[in-house]
Amino acid sequence: MNVFSFSMLKSSIIRLLIVVLSLNLMACNDAKSPDVESNGSTPSIVAAKASTVEASANLVEALADFTVYKDPNCGCCVHWITHANDHGYSTETVHPANMSAIKAHYGIAPNLQSCHTAVNQDGYIFEGHVPAKFIKQFLADIPAGYIGLTVPAMVVGSPGMEVGDKFMPYQILALKKDGSSELYQAITSYQQQF
Ligand code: CU
Ligand code: CU
Repeated sequence: MNVFSFSMLKSSIIRLLIVVLSLNLMACNDAKSPDVESNGSTPSIVAAKASTVEASANLVEALADFTVYKDPNCGCCVHWITHANDHGYSTETVHPANMSAIKAHYGIAPNLQSCHTAVNQDGYIFEGHVPAKFIKQFLADIPAGYIGLTVPAMVVGSPGMEVGDKFMPYQILALKKDGSSELYQAITSYQQQF
């Protein structure tokens, strides 16, 4: 009797275990199927959103001749943007959290840096207070291996850096792909800039 009861109990326990196990498996499958569905649909939603954002970013870039990266508190940058606008260039202004990261991204060495970085639709870089006249000249005939122009630092009397009628001679440098630079144009008078 005892042996029989024990074997009944044993088989009951085994049955119960089987039921519990299969319930668990079902539960797992039930739990898994919505996960798989949401995993399957979530990335496509994210991808759709990303491509929309990308498309609108491209649209903004396509509408403006230049994307100008600058510090939100830079006043001379705004004056340079006005100069560029006055000379027929449309601009879109971006205020990145980290301007040094922008300079690093475009490969502008510290000694070649200025306040703002303007990038045109084709990726050419115009760093600092470069006169629009020379941007036009550069873009009309881009020397091979060059990626843009820079006026390092902030020279008094350059476009956007007007202080009364003060003018300091300066050099517009051409930026090369390898990170170096070369003299593009020496500016020796205020009038030469326009
Ligand atoms: Cu400036
Ligand atoms: Cu600036």
